[in-house]
Amino acid sequence: KKKIAIMTSGGDSPGMNGVVRACVRMAIHLGCDPYCIYEGYEGLVRGGDLIRKMEWDDVRGWLSEGGTLIGTARCMAFFERAGRLEAAKNLIAHGIDALIICGGDGSLTGADRFRAEWPSLLDELEANGTYTALELQPYRHLNIVGLVGSIDNDLSGTDATIGCYSALARVCYAIDLIEATASSHSRAFVIEVMGRHCGWLALMAGVATGADFIFIPEKPREDNWREEMCGIVEHHRSLGKRKTIVIIAEGALDREGNKITPTMVKDLLADKNGLALDTRITTLGHVQRGGTAVAYDRMLATLQGVEAVKAVLEATPETPTCVIAINENKIVRKPLMQAVLDTKKLAKAIESQDFDQAMALRDTEFSE
Ligand code: F6P
Repeated sequence: KKKIAIMTSGGDSPGMNGVVRACVRMAIHLGCDPYCIYEGYEGLVRGGDLIRKMEWDDVRGWLSEGGTLIGTARCMAFFERAGRLEAAKNLIAHGIDALIICGGDGSLTGADRFRAEWPSLLDELEANGTYTALELQPYRHLNIVGLVGSIDNDLSGTDATIGCYSALARVCYAIDLIEATASSHSRAFVIEVMGRHCGWLALMAGVATGADFIFIPEKPREDNWREEMCGIVEHHRSLGKRKTIVIIAEGALDREGNKITPTMVKDLLADKNGLALDTRITTLGHVQRGGTAVAYDRMLATLQGVEAVKAVLEATPETPTCVIAINENKIVRKPLMQAVLDTKKLAKAIESQDFDQAMALRDTEFSE
């Protein structure tokens, strides 16, 4: 019987439990034994009871649970070869040779490297006497498939990452709540949303709530952003609007690459010599990441989980590690490292302030 292990890694996102549920049940459906690796890469390195066989009933009710019930952790040991050697030893000890990982681009890159290194890890396990060549024979290839779990929607090559629509719903709900109090007092609110390198949450929340002004990293504001923002807010106020909502992504920048902070925006809106608006800052923080998944993320988690099991069973040593994506409403497999490289290209473009290139990369469908 084929043994398939599933783990979650990196920052949690709503829908990860749906992924685990779908993988566990699809694996059983196809006659395989599913395992869960608890605590992300930490569990892979430490092994023991952090690697557990799962039954159909073990994942009952998981679709509607937030976070990740099998845990996630930032694991330094996996960055070292010694840690990866332990990981290989533990997988073989449980008879596992297929791995499904749900996480962000960092976690998935780690997985691809692990797969590439696998033959040399096996050689070392044989050389140091942990296993004999005969014992290692069934494990010559490690198949890995990635699923993207992230609230930021920050991986190239997929239209949506698992969790981003739940976070977006949470942000919109929070802004709706804020709008009621903003309107009552005729106040302005500067709302900071997550997204280190990616403005998707800020941009979509702005569109979905009709915000007055938005700051995102991919399209930094021109030097005159102060005048531009104040002009727009003033115009909206002149039309009778009693509330002002400005959304700012964590990674917002100006054209010079300087960070634009919520305090800077607040001070400007509140400036006694300018608009003199009574202004508050709200940082939504981890509220955005917690809680149950919206229907879209449950659907994405389930369909992609099913596809991941099929993909990991069909993979050959020659197939590049794949990531399960969604493009124009179709669940598809894509080469993982191409998606990671395209994502890195975008981050680099932002870092080196090549913003036209950044916007082009955001808009372009990634090449296969
Ligand atoms: O999940 C991605 C993300 O939400 C980023 O937008 C944010 O900067 C980061 O996680 C914060 O994560 P943590 O608090 O776990 O370091």
